[in-house]
Amino acid sequence: MVIAIRAPKKAPPPPPLTLSQVPAHVGIIMDGNGRWATNHGLPRLAGHRAGTENLRRVIERFADYGVHYLTLYAFSTENWNRPKREIRGLMSILSRVIKREIKHFHKNGIRLLHIGRLEALDPKLQQQILDAIDLTKDNDRMTLTIAFNYGGRAEILEAVRRIVSEGVHPDQINERLFKHYLYTVTIPDPDLIIRTAGEMRLSNFLLWQGAYAEFVSTPVHWPDFDIDEIDEALLAYSQRKRRFGGLLPAEVDYPAPANGKNGARPNGRRALGRNNIQR
Ligand code: FPP
Repeated sequence: MVIAIRAPKKAPPPPPLTLSQVPAHVGIIMDGNGRWATNHGLPRLAGHRAGTENLRRVIERFADYGVHYLTLYAFSTENWNRPKREIRGLMSILSRVIKREIKHFHKNGIRLLHIGRLEALDPKLQQQILDAIDLTKDNDRMTLTIAFNYGGRAEILEAVRRIVSEGVHPDQINERLFKHYLYTVTIPDPDLIIRTAGEMRLSNFLLWQGAYAEFVSTPVHWPDFDIDEIDEALLAYSQRKRRFGGLLPAEVDYPAPANGKNGARPNGRRALGRNNIQR
């Protein structure tokens, strides 16, 4: 008699929560790989490798919620200050992640983008990134942006240099024009920035774009970040009141003018929504 032994089926993840608002764009500062490795008695690079095991699940979970843009901060302009061996390891991890995941991304409607200084990377890695971007360019379920060799200050300086070198007149420089000179020209500003490993810093991530992002910090180290933490972060976001420096309509304590317009108060404050921010 032959007894077929089947591996136990992995329970499917719980369905996404029903939320009153879901961010269009989530940025993640993936932190704590080193501490995760230390806690497990492993070298730091093992922590970074472990930090790639959750990527598919994390990306799929956000996509299931209808998050259209996900940006992962994988290597900052300051990370060049780490030991050479760790830098080399991080480069080869990115290369392996692209090799391992690109077909899956493509099949599942994920468009890949990169932000940061590509020119400073190894030419083979540059080409690999460009090929992955090209392959997935028509996908529209989610845009996954990898911030690799990215720094918010460097991005802003680069924009300023290009504006100056193109001879743009100072009167023409406003926030809308400036956005066109940033790496993120084709993607909206983040609504939510999540940082793992309990830190409360932006660490040079999307400095311009994150001006009005909600911030969630979770104590969990990046390799342990998974579906439960995503649900928690999105639930916290859904309960935030976003005012963009203005007031919510329910908070305005003076009668609306008869013409139905959003009248200015004597002190000049207005009730603002996302689309009528005054510049
Ligand atoms: C920060 O942890 C993490 C990094 C600098 C690497 C980022 C993430 C990965 C390698 C995962 C792979 C993801 C992609 C998209 C390729 P840390 O080393 O600063 O941790 P520590 O603060 O505990 O030392």
